[in-house]
Amino acid sequence: MTGPLAFLARRGLFLLDPETAHGLSIKALKSGLVPACAAPADPRLEQTIAGLTFPNPVGMAAGYDKNAEVPEALLRIGFGFTEVGTVTPRPQPGNDKPRIFRLVEDEAVINRLGFNNEGHGAALARLKACSRQALIGVNIGANKDSSDRIADYVAGIRTFYPVARYFTANISSPNTPGLRDLQARESLAALLTAVLAARDEEAGKSGRRVPIFLKIAPDLTEEGMDDIAAEVLAHDLDGLIVSNTTLSREGLGDRRQAGEAGGLSGKPLFEKSTAVLARMRKRVGPALPIIGVGGVSSAETAAEKIRAGADLVQLYSCMVYEGPGLPARIVRGLSALCDREKLGSIRDIRDSRLDYWAGRNA
Ligand SMILES: Cc1cc2nc3c(=O)[nH]c(=O)nc-3n(C[C@H](O)[C@H](O)[C@H](O)COP(=O)(O)O)c2cc1C
Repeated sequence: MTGPLAFLARRGLFLLDPETAHGLSIKALKSGLVPACAAPADPRLEQTIAGLTFPNPVGMAAGYDKNAEVPEALLRIGFGFTEVGTVTPRPQPGNDKPRIFRLVEDEAVINRLGFNNEGHGAALARLKACSRQALIGVNIGANKDSSDRIADYVAGIRTFYPVARYFTANISSPNTPGLRDLQARESLAALLTAVLAARDEEAGKSGRRVPIFLKIAPDLTEEGMDDIAAEVLAHDLDGLIVSNTTLSREGLGDRRQAGEAGGLSGKPLFEKSTAVLARMRKRVGPALPIIGVGGVSSAETAAEKIRAGADLVQLYSCMVYEGPGLPARIVRGLSALCDREKLGSIRDIRDSRLDYWAGRNA
């Protein structure tokens, strides 16, 4: 759907509360109401990262398709990959509603969903029905009332091993009390040891090694970033996802909604998440894959994440404002950038603005 019809559909969705609108958009994708609109394949955008070949570097971030209802439909509208979840072992309702807020003038979202999801079983059943070729990652987390959070992550690895092309260990949601404490050095070491041991065991049994990424918060101190980098390099982790939502409310125009508790995402997160991305790239060196997330709204912002050190990017919030044509528009824009700058691969711009972004005090 493009042009005036898409505009009206989006205006209509904005009259609804954000969670109802989200549910309708999932229904539309399921029913095929959103037509396939992928940009033409462009070998200059193809990336091989952590042993996986991504047709383009633009992915759907976790949280949109928490229960794996529409991963293949998201790939059909132009995303090069998609991440389902966060899924927890047992279903849980999440926090009380309302718990998603649009900050329209800032093109931002605040959410305090709290890992509402249908649990491992429901997502697994749906993923079993998907093509094994589809580039679908599974983002795993812990139940709010879990007595052993690390065991919940290990259960995620074991349960989804046959169907996941990659895993994301999400330790950075601000909406599950205490979850971000897993980023502290000793807890992180214990988590990575357990999760990677489970992966190695499953890889031994299946003959297939599924990469694992770690998703971190943008609200880290320099020391916190040092600790994460040291642990990541000390373990056989496959990459980082930078970043989740922020607790910061800096620079917002919409002061009324800014007071809502939860994680902020969308345009105002771009600077901060890109600065943390570059600082982590400096710390981990050029070889470790990094997926840049936070405020990607256009081909230019996607390219800027790559210039700051990202191999791939993901987005969620700006699609709320730009509509389902956004991933294909970004992909076409990246192809145009390759034409303009005569690039053999989009990868050629990686790190070209690393120093600039690493020096930003966002
Ligand atoms: C409504 C909503 C729900 C989210 N749920 C999750 C989640 O379950 N797991 C996760 O790792 N990230 C979750 N995120 C964070 C996004 O994956 C992403 O890291 C963040 O929103 C920054 O990207 P963006 O500015 O493009 O939205 C959620 C974001 C939003 C807006």
